[in-house]
Amino acid sequence: MTSESLHPVSGPARRTVVAAVGAAGLAVALTACGSDDKASDTVNPGDGGTGGSSSGGTDSGAGGGTELAKTADIPEGGGKVFADQGVVVTQPAAGSFKAFSSKCTHQGCAVKGIADGVITCPCHGSQFSATDGSVKKGPATKALPAAKITVEGDSIKLA
Ligand code: FES
Repeated sequence: MTSESLHPVSGPARRTVVAAVGAAGLAVALTACGSDDKASDTVNPGDGGTGGSSSGGTDSGAGGGTELAKTADIPEGGGKVFADQGVVVTQPAAGSFKAFSSKCTHQGCAVKGIADGVITCPCHGSQFSATDGSVKKGPATKALPAAKITVEGDSIKLA
């Protein structure tokens, strides 16, 4: 029921349609010609409500991901925060790489400092498991959501 999208001020667009019909519409067009604003908005800005779910998730397929780091960049038992991408990548065990959102679930600070399998948030001291993102210590109560990475050879890519 988005009646707001049907603005009563759709004069110009309507006039265009009517004029295209031909001579029959001409009289109407002339009458409607009172307000001559040249904003011939053919694209209706009013209908952006349904949050365009263009699921473009699976793009470019094999080998097309953005390389985040080399596996050698991620210390075993530790990890690294990639602030630009908003992820933290950890290596809780040799050869096993995990990634999580780097945004603390408490109040949204960026976590930093991964040591001994624990990811720490500097703001209020929450700690998360570097293995599964679960809360080790509050005040945060929710686990860090996992982020998707793929490891190809020595390259860690954001999926
Ligand atoms: Fe991370 Fe408060 S925002 S502990």
